[in-house]
Amino acid sequence: MERVISQQWLLVDHVSRIPRRGDYFLFRVGGEQIIVIRENENEVHAFFNVCRHRGSRVCLEDEGHKRLLTCPYHAWSYNLDGSLKAARLMPDDFDQSQHGLHRCHLRVFHGLIFVCLSKDNPPDFDAMYSEFDEMLGFHGFSDAKIAVQRNYPNAANWKLVVENFIECYHCAPAHPEYCSVHPANQLLALGAGPGSGPKGALEAYQPTLDKWEARASALGHPSPCIERSASSIDMAQLSRFPINDREFDSETRTGEPACTKLMGKFNERDHGETAFSFNPISFILACNDFAMMARFTPIDGMQTDIQLTWLVHKDAEEDVDYDVDNVAWIWDVTIKQDKRITEDNQAGILSSRYQPGPYSEQERLVMTFSDWYLDKLEKH
Ligand code: FES
Ligand SMILES: [Fe+2]
Repeated sequence: MERVISQQWLLVDHVSRIPRRGDYFLFRVGGEQIIVIRENENEVHAFFNVCRHRGSRVCLEDEGHKRLLTCPYHAWSYNLDGSLKAARLMPDDFDQSQHGLHRCHLRVFHGLIFVCLSKDNPPDFDAMYSEFDEMLGFHGFSDAKIAVQRNYPNAANWKLVVENFIECYHCAPAHPEYCSVHPANQLLALGAGPGSGPKGALEAYQPTLDKWEARASALGHPSPCIERSASSIDMAQLSRFPINDREFDSETRTGEPACTKLMGKFNERDHGETAFSFNPISFILACNDFAMMARFTPIDGMQTDIQLTWLVHKDAEEDVDYDVDNVAWIWDVTIKQDKRITEDNQAGILSSRYQPGPYSEQERLVMTFSDWYLDKLEKH
């Protein structure tokens, strides 16, 4: 937690989850609870959910609305900016200004809320993510809203959840629906992001990718590619690719649009998809008309909270422009399959006879992730 997770900028949610002053939600990570709360139109804060008196939890519900944050134990109360507003019967020399809630680093970028749990200065957000600026802006995430959000508690260590998400060796046996939307040569080449497929598969797929990219770029759509190494802070990735060479409009059963309103600067559908990875536990996969944010949060050694959030244009109307089950379909069905296979994997690993076997050529990114993880342990 201290050396790896606390050193990352974690993507926790979208600002539309807390639209009004006083709206908050709790972000649970490891043994910590972070209160993410809106103070006003422009400001969102993050505080550790720990009272400065004797340490009680201050917020007890997972989400809600507060005018003041009042501790349920002895009723110390805090303003929405975290400062202590009132504490009864304290001695004369008690300095109220020194007892605000402990602040957690927070950054809102294109409507996306990131937090960093580091005790010291967090890594330089702008240095890490300014390269993502253009593509995030193009997808219009600041003008998005949450269509639906679902949680999938997973009884497996977070590293198994991540490893599963960044390899597509299991796609053919485990994900019939996902494989019906994406063609096999694409899944082999970059099914789990750049660098995930066997050497040679990307070269074989390149002509299809080039043809699609030429069309996207004729429409004025950028196609950046970022592929950071195991020694980078975040192992971040950014890539674009066609959903299917059969010109799928969106990641839906039939390739039909998921939402009639396009997001961001897309005026015309380019049949493409963008994969953002801010770090190994924070992802967004975005079509032209909806996006799916995935957050894989370690709770303890055997428990990972998977939260998926689907975003659409803020003016899109449910049941008029989109149907929730249609928007959520591909990733809901896929992540439920992933939950089953990672839980089975975890159970097997706990056996006395488990020993790691060799990786296939389609699990290259898993090796990069292991190197990244060990690099972080060493560096701190
Ligand atoms: S622990 Fe919060 S008021 Fe006492
Ligand atoms: Fe999977």
